[in-house]
Amino acid sequence: MKLDRNASIVILTGAGISKESGLDTFRDEGGVWSKVRIEDVATPDAYIANPDRVHEFYNMRRAAVLDDSLHPNAAHAALAELEQHWPGNVLVVTQNVDDLHERAGSENLIHMHGELLKSRCTACGDISDCRQDLSVNSVCDACHATGTVRPHIVWFGEMPMQMDDIHDALADAGLFISIGTSGNVYPAAGFVDVVRVAGTGQTVELNLEPSSGATHFDDSRYGPATEIVPAFVRTLLENA
Ligand code: APR
Repeated sequence: MKLDRNASIVILTGAGISKESGLDTFRDEGGVWSKVRIEDVATPDAYIANPDRVHEFYNMRRAAVLDDSLHPNAAHAALAELEQHWPGNVLVVTQNVDDLHERAGSENLIHMHGELLKSRCTACGDISDCRQDLSVNSVCDACHATGTVRPHIVWFGEMPMQMDDIHDALADAGLFISIGTSGNVYPAAGFVDVVRVAGTGQTVELNLEPSSGATHFDDSRYGPATEIVPAFVRTLLENA
């Protein structure tokens, strides 16, 4: 792959990049959505109908992210190395709500679906770090309201975060890399087409297997992220 050394690179990641660290994906066999229904735990209506159930779901997922056994893997590390050594701008847009990209050293990072380790107050809008269970009895540290603190997560039917920033970056990208995502959920699944329409960037899919959007990419590599992502990053940096 030939790429101008000053080209900007936008990388979309999904649950597949965290799989080898030990976090479940959503739609693989045995994935999150095979154990619980989206409409019961990941929509605004679910939260209104049964906030305890929703808090329980995210408390369990937050505990998994905080578990001492969870570490970033070689794919997360390779993306942090790319950001550090690539001459042009590198932006990671993750659908993931874990903190493995940060822990691996990525700094230019957008969590478009929110973060498990943050909470948000529906009364005052305050966003705070959150490393403990939430419940309907949680009190907002900023406005001291009770029962208004929700997970800082984008639920189905809600607008993903920083979409303007993401679109600006995609329109300017010389290279778009999609890693570990099934291409089932929009708007993330449409990012490859934003780059293609802009006409200035190359597009690559790095995944365990072809995603729903595989045919939209110029190039692809298939295999475990911990193998194919470091190898791809090495190729980019060798040619920088
Ligand atoms: N290495 C690379 N890719 C992998 C690996 C691996 N070790 N294991 C699984 N994958 C791939 C799967 O082949 C699949 O294409 O990761 C993808 C995971 O797809 P999903 O489970 O659908 O997860 P994701 O695409 O991130 O889901 C997007 O949907 O439920 C919502 O908000 C949730 O952010 C999530 C969004």
